[in-house]
Amino acid sequence: MNGKIGLIFGDGIGPEIVREAKKVLDRTAEKFGHRFDYKELLLGGASIDVHGVPLTKETVEEAKACDAVLMGSIGGDAKTSPWYQLEPSKRPEAGLLGIRKALNLFANLRPAYLYEELRSSCPLREDISRAGFDLLIMRELTGGLYFGARKTEEVDGVMTAVDTLSYNELEIRRIAKRAFDVAQKRRGKVCSVDKANVLDSSRLWRKVVEEVAKDYPDVELSHMYVDNCAMQLVMNPAQFDVILTENMFGDILSDEASMVTGSIGMLSSASLNDTRFGLYEPSHGSAPDIAGQNKANPIATILSAAMMLRYTFDLDQEAEAIEGAVRQVLKDGYRTGDIMTEGCTYTGTVQMGDLIAERI
Ligand code: IPM
Ligand code: MG
Repeated sequence: MNGKIGLIFGDGIGPEIVREAKKVLDRTAEKFGHRFDYKELLLGGASIDVHGVPLTKETVEEAKACDAVLMGSIGGDAKTSPWYQLEPSKRPEAGLLGIRKALNLFANLRPAYLYEELRSSCPLREDISRAGFDLLIMRELTGGLYFGARKTEEVDGVMTAVDTLSYNELEIRRIAKRAFDVAQKRRGKVCSVDKANVLDSSRLWRKVVEEVAKDYPDVELSHMYVDNCAMQLVMNPAQFDVILTENMFGDILSDEASMVTGSIGMLSSASLNDTRFGLYEPSHGSAPDIAGQNKANPIATILSAAMMLRYTFDLDQEAEAIEGAVRQVLKDGYRTGDIMTEGCTYTGTVQMGDLIAERI
């Protein structure tokens, strides 16, 4: 088959890791007889440098004309980069939020899996990591605090800032359905995470999730408060299959979940709407401190490319070939700096891409 893929190289380590993911995609296409055409799209700081804004209409239109978009990471060092002298709505992150909203990418899937080979990088106690874990965070991505009205103003002589957390039942229902659909293909469990002991938006969330659950009698639903979930993720991550949660909670919990896998450099993600289109990106940031030094771990981006093959192009076998190649490279003892342990072979970004491509 022929596919058209938008590439957002982005900022910091973005260009290096996307190059390696493209290398692996090209190898996969060659091996399985497909053809991918690429179109480079500008977003974040790279777009500010050219157009003065982090997202242009052009990028949105070009993305829409692709079957899927693969992204590296965007943003720079907030202390030193001139991008952060701009007002908040013109900074790199605003471009990412803008493209998520413009393409209606409401479902963000973030799998967190403990590789047998990386068990020694897992920061959890050995008796906890021994059980392993394999979970997926289904994060709502286009609502809640990220997109509610906000303002900063003086009220009675006191500076006051307001952010609004709002969800309607339609937004909750569509993301809940996604979580149950995915759970049916996994181990059949959904844990919905909220703060229903305090927030109205969470009480509505819980009510709607319970309604949706009635259509999925084969999936077991539980509820958990977000503070407890943060604790359970380090105490007993093996209990989770699919964690369903709103935008802000999902942002925080997904960083936590990724870190207990040993490195945030291993975690892929997919942001989907209700078509086959998806934006695929690693869960980690742009790591400006190591940019351009051939040190970044490209695996999260490579695994995001695998998710793209599975969710947008329906190429399960090809996706498995990439995931298998990653596992094999780890078994063979190759490690980037973030996951390096004694006795393994230190590997730079480019070499890691080569090693994975060779194993497709
Ligand atoms: C993420 C990131 C973004 C978010 C930032 C860069 C705006 O942390 O994708 O998790 O908060 O969603
Ligand atoms: Mg985040």
